[in-house]
Amino acid sequence: MLPMVDLKTQYQQLKSEIDTAISQVLESTQFIMGPQVRTFEQEAAQYLGVPYAVGCASGTDALHLALRAAGIGPDDEVITTPFTFIATAEAIRYVGAKPVFVDIDPHTYNLAIDQIEAAITPATRAILPVHLFGQPVDMAGVLAISDAHDLLTIEDCAQSFGADIDGRQTGSLSLAGCFSFFPSKNLGCYGDGGMVSTQSQSVYERLLSLRNHGSSQRYHHQEIGYNSRLDEIQAAILRVKLQHVDRFNQARRRVAERYRDALTAMGIQVPLEDGIGTHVYHQYVARSPQRDRILAHLQKSQIGCAIYYPIPLHRQDVFAADYADTSLPVAETVSKDCFALPVFPEMTDTQIDTVLHAIEQAIG
Ligand SMILES: Cc1ncc(COP(=O)(O)O)c(C=O)c1O
Repeated sequence: MLPMVDLKTQYQQLKSEIDTAISQVLESTQFIMGPQVRTFEQEAAQYLGVPYAVGCASGTDALHLALRAAGIGPDDEVITTPFTFIATAEAIRYVGAKPVFVDIDPHTYNLAIDQIEAAITPATRAILPVHLFGQPVDMAGVLAISDAHDLLTIEDCAQSFGADIDGRQTGSLSLAGCFSFFPSKNLGCYGDGGMVSTQSQSVYERLLSLRNHGSSQRYHHQEIGYNSRLDEIQAAILRVKLQHVDRFNQARRRVAERYRDALTAMGIQVPLEDGIGTHVYHQYVARSPQRDRILAHLQKSQIGCAIYYPIPLHRQDVFAADYADTSLPVAETVSKDCFALPVFPEMTDTQIDTVLHAIEQAIG
C-alpha cells in the first residue's frame, strides 16, 4: 500500500527527538498552558516573522477565534472561497456572519481575485482567502481590495505552513493567519492543534482571553470564552518538527516537480505555480476528464488517492438552501475532475514512479 501521507516513516526518522520531547512533558506533569506552549508560540512567531502567535485546539478554532477577536459578528459578510475544507465557512457561521463565496482560478484553485470586488456589499467586513493546497494566494491583490473598501483580511493558512511570498510567510500578511496542526499537515502534531498569528496587539490580547474561558487572570472572567488550548505534549512535538519543516517542504516540492513533468507529458492538467509565492504542496491536486478512471486504477493498485474537494461548499447539504441562486462554475467544474495524489516529504523516487506508472496504465 502506498499511502497519501506516510506519518509512520516520518515518526521513525524523528523518533528519538520526539520521544525525548514527549517524555520531558510527561516527567514535568505540566500538561496544559506551560513552557512548551509558550516557547512554541515564540518560536513559531519568529519563524513566521510576526510579533504574536497564540496556540489553540485546532485549525477550525484558530479561524473561529480569529474572526471573533477581529470583531466579526452577526449581519457581517465574509468573502471566501467555495473550494476549501468546510471549516473555513463553518467558522464564519460560528460568529453569526455569512460566508459569501467567490469563484476560483481553474489553474491555481485559489480565489479568483478579479471577482472579489463584485461580491462586496455594504455588509462586507472581511476577506478570508485560503492558501489552498499550500499555494499562497495573491495577497497583494487581496490587500489592495480590502484596503480600498476598508475591509479586514484574515488568512486561512491551514495548508500553507512555511509557504512564503517574497520571503514573507503566509500568516504574516494580514490581520491574522490561522493554522492547523492536524497530523497530516505540513507542520503536524500527534492530535488536534492550531494557532493564530497576528501583528495586532489588541487581537493578540483578545485571543489569549478567548482561548482560555474569557480570562486574562485566573478565575477572573471578562467575557464568554472557550476551552481551546494547545496542550504541552502537542507543543513539544511541534517544536521538534518546526526545526525540520523547511526541509519537509523542500522535499514536497521535489515530489511535485517530478509529478509535473511526467503528468504534463500524459496530458494531465497539473497545479499551476503562478510565481506569486512558494507552493509547499500540502496536497498535489491535478485535473483530468479521465479522473474517475485514474482513481479506480490507483485504488485497485493500492495507491492512495483522494478528491479535494468533491463538492464545493455552496453545494453542500448544509449550505445548499441558502446558496441555491449562487453559481460558481469554475469551482463546480474543478470539483468534478480534480484528484489528489500522494505527496509527503519522505516519498522515494520508486514510490513516485509507481504512482506515475499506474496513471499511465489507467489512461494508456
Ligand atoms: C483549509 C482548511 N481550513 C481549516 C481547516 C481546519 O483545521 P483543523 O482540522 O485543525 O480544525 C483545515 C483542515 O483540516 C483546512 O484544510
